[in-house]
Amino acid sequence: LFTAVEMAPRDPILGLNDQFAADTNPSKVNLGVGVYFDDNGKLPLLQCVQAAEKAMMDKPTPRGYLPIDGIAAYDNGVKALVFGADSDVVKSGRVSTVQAIGGTGGLKIGADFLKKLNPNAKVMISNPSWENHRAIFQNAGFEVVNYAYYDAATRSIDFAGMLADLNAAPAGTVVVLHACCHNPTGYDITAAQWDQVIEVVKAKNLVAFLDMAYQGFGHGIAEDGAVIGKFVAAGLNIFVSTSFSKSFSLYGERVGALSVVANDKEEAARVLSQLKIVIRTNYSNPPTHGGAVVAAVLNNPELRAQWEAELGEMRVRIKAMRQKLVDGLKAAGVTQDMSFITTQIGMFSYSGLSKEQMIRLRSEFGVYGTDTGRMCVAALNSKNIEHVCKSIAAVI
Ligand code: LMR
Repeated sequence: LFTAVEMAPRDPILGLNDQFAADTNPSKVNLGVGVYFDDNGKLPLLQCVQAAEKAMMDKPTPRGYLPIDGIAAYDNGVKALVFGADSDVVKSGRVSTVQAIGGTGGLKIGADFLKKLNPNAKVMISNPSWENHRAIFQNAGFEVVNYAYYDAATRSIDFAGMLADLNAAPAGTVVVLHACCHNPTGYDITAAQWDQVIEVVKAKNLVAFLDMAYQGFGHGIAEDGAVIGKFVAAGLNIFVSTSFSKSFSLYGERVGALSVVANDKEEAARVLSQLKIVIRTNYSNPPTHGGAVVAAVLNNPELRAQWEAELGEMRVRIKAMRQKLVDGLKAAGVTQDMSFITTQIGMFSYSGLSKEQMIRLRSEFGVYGTDTGRMCVAALNSKNIEHVCKSIAAVI
């Protein structure tokens, strides 16, 4: 049965974790996967999460099956976070939100639903995009093509190229957009540019699918989420995938969501019924713990304020490490201008280093980033920064 089965390549991001774990270099640093570590190199367990878990342990509850679309308080918490609790779109019942297995799960539920809805549509992703975007939509049966995004020569966004590609897309094309903190480049378009993108999406009848995996890591929770309000105000039917992996430091709990904006309450109910079929036929219903923790935090004003403060600390520390990286590279002898690192936003820096340089960084110095030159600056700290800077300087 399996004689012709080929060995698949390792995952370009998560595959690096295995290689990192096996590396015996005592100075090794994992800047591969998008995970935030604190200044001691530790994965944080947020205070708000601990408080919610303590309250849950003080009042243990049995673990029955959840509804197919997840915990209602969780789904409502996500709606309020993404669209605003008092927004018309939420109050009028136009948003269908389902709990998902991480942001990846939200993307996959949306992809499977879209494939049923419009089987001949193409999907467009940014060039470059998160490595898994192409794979998720291809595995859902779509042809996936690129729209222009990053111009390596100028280290900036090729916005004219992006608009031209969107303008040329056939009606019904699904356009995957990074709502904030573009992964992998760290370059976001401006608010005014979003307005132009929305105009094209509307004029050309495209379907916007916004991936919001990093809300709060750019400029703030509300600031990063503002783009969603712009799409809603334009009267568009949109898809939004949410992840709490990074913002709650709950990577292993797989807490995410998919929200779909319909034209009215009755349409939203029909959409929800179809999303539930996708979920039921994939994994039946979501797990309880992570969703219950996030719901408890989002729906309790005190815990919510604590979460915002803790997320703010992560955001501020990442920004400080960007500056330290720029300064450290200079001190390590890098003469080229690396200040672009501080204009990038979110967890990643697209360093501009080649595949060969990234391989050397791993094999000679134990510094792990992806082959594309992406480095997770959220894993830098005051202890590993010097080693990272000297290693990068050596390969440049
Ligand atoms: C990343 O881009 O490193 C993260 O989103 C983790 C992942 O699942 O790839």
